[in-house]
Amino acid sequence: MNKAATGMILTQIAQTATEVAAIASARLRGFGRKNDADQAAVDAMRRSFQDAPFAGKVVIGEGEIDEAPMLYIGEELGAGGIAVDIAVDPLEGTKLCAHDAPNAMTVVALAPKGGLLHAPDMYMDKLAIGPGYPPGLIDLDLSPTENVTRLAKAKGVPVSAIRACLLDRERHHGIIEELRRAGAGVRLIPDGDVAGVFWTTEAARSGVDIYFGSGGAPEGVLAAAAIRCAGGQMQARLKPETPEEEERARKMGRDVHAKLTLDQMVSGDVVFAASGVTHGSMFEGVHFEGDGAHVDSLVWDSFTGRRTRIRSVWAQA
Ligand code: FBP
Repeated sequence: MNKAATGMILTQIAQTATEVAAIASARLRGFGRKNDADQAAVDAMRRSFQDAPFAGKVVIGEGEIDEAPMLYIGEELGAGGIAVDIAVDPLEGTKLCAHDAPNAMTVVALAPKGGLLHAPDMYMDKLAIGPGYPPGLIDLDLSPTENVTRLAKAKGVPVSAIRACLLDRERHHGIIEELRRAGAGVRLIPDGDVAGVFWTTEAARSGVDIYFGSGGAPEGVLAAAAIRCAGGQMQARLKPETPEEEERARKMGRDVHAKLTLDQMVSGDVVFAASGVTHGSMFEGVHFEGDGAHVDSLVWDSFTGRRTRIRSVWAQA
């Protein structure tokens, strides 16, 4: 199958999956039941994959088979067709959804088999910028000061015009202080680092130039798919915190402490899709109007280079 046809099929599958998951979890916004909201998203997403025209295998999912009955790593889904790696975060920002707070979303990345890093469920250090910069501009082995200074120079602005984004966590206090000393602005987010990384791809609109800090490794690979489609830059490094996590990463064939390049996370073409659950800076949240559920999504497809924003209306039973 040629690239354009592959991109078209995967786009359709990914969009449907994020949209149905967004509608299902949006019904549970604000009730303080993050696990129920997550489960609703998982169920809806899984159902949509079951009948889809592909031979999908979950490489980033809800966990190992013993801890996740659905969308577990290794689960095979689809009605047959092209062999595809599936990466999902059925509800990114479960707490945001439970609190009806901004930026909860559903996320999927699809790539031909072997195209996505099988990242274990542990922390990962992430560093990302959007498109338009010379290759190799940022590096995880450089200090935050050096990274923002290089970025400012490449952008032709003072460091004070650079805004970094990080999860608001105690573990990031050192980086935050250093960035402020360097003169950069810092946006702290309560949750949802897929959005944090994504924002770098639309810096003029989002106001975020660079993403720093650690968060989930699965979210890191999903964000890398967006960076790949946008032509941005990203590096990452797994951060096992216990001997068990080290062992797990090693078993998955990882050199645990090696720096991961964008190519190692997403090795070829990919489709990245996300839909808004709660209202936020990327999306309007799902709204239910009359007998329709209105969903705001984006689908980026590196097979064709097409980046689409879509507003769908799903008839409600
Ligand atoms: P969930 O949707 O699974 O709750 O994840 C939200 C999130 O903020 C991710 O975006 C991020 O990668 C991770 O949690 C960070 O983990 P922690 O809250 O432990 O810092």
